[in-house]
Amino acid sequence: MFIGMMGAGKTTLGRSYAARHGLAFIDSDQELEARTGVSIPTIFAVEGEEGFREREARMLAELLGREDLVLATGGGVVLRPENRAQLRRRGIVVYLHVPPEVLWERLRHDRHRPLLQVPQPRQRIFELYAQRDPLYREVADVVVDGGRLKPAAMLARVEEAV
Ligand code: S3P
Repeated sequence: MFIGMMGAGKTTLGRSYAARHGLAFIDSDQELEARTGVSIPTIFAVEGEEGFREREARMLAELLGREDLVLATGGGVVLRPENRAQLRRRGIVVYLHVPPEVLWERLRHDRHRPLLQVPQPRQRIFELYAQRDPLYREVADVVVDGGRLKPAAMLARVEEAV
């Protein structure tokens, strides 16, 4: 189970980790897009953030029931207390910690994250980080510091930590 901010590398690392260990991999956002047939920005536009969070929580409850799975969650999954409770009950939860200034470098040209389509996206990342970092730490079994590491080096850290 990989948690952390958008741009932390949950999807890339989750996929590589699953391949190395012969496990199935699902990215919660990609799964939601595949099931609904529309993009995450479209879900936000039509149903608002609340509608998206509802779908995200239902998806999490379903996917956490599967044992053989490596799951990359959306960055906001820890916002709901019931999601945090579910994550705490599950196998190993890895928080990929990347500082906000590095996230900003990675996400500054991103057009796929509805939460960043605001006049001050850099400030938004710092605010989201301040709000969520304690929540990720609350549910994580291990915290892996990514910083500016490339995915391969970060994966090595994950392998050491779990
Ligand atoms: C979100 C992160 C996104 C996606 C949605 C909301 C968030 O997932 O679920 O745009 O609240 O941080 P990633 O963390 O995979 O980018």
